[in-house]
Amino acid sequence: MARIIIYTRKAPVLVKDSRGVTVAAICMCGLSKKYPYCDGSHIKTQDEEEGKIYIYDAQGTRIGEIPEEKAKKLLGTENPRTV
Ligand code: FES
Repeated sequence: MARIIIYTRKAPVLVKDSRGVTVAAICMCGLSKKYPYCDGSHIKTQDEEEGKIYIYDAQGTRIGEIPEEKAKKLLGTENPRTV
């Protein structure tokens, strides 16, 4: 069994306490080895360009990219669910 999940965010969501102090950083890029917590791996996404979908392996190494339009055709939808 396998699945494709498309993450579009390039930074964590910061969880703050009632004083505004950050108490947790939640990974929103999908590359953290400490998921659901951010480990800084989102730095790998900083050079990603609009209009492309990037492919990473299980170790978080970028292994390819495809144009977004081609990805939509492969997935069979104009609006793939994204995180
Ligand atoms: S947001 Fe994913 S590692 Fe930081």
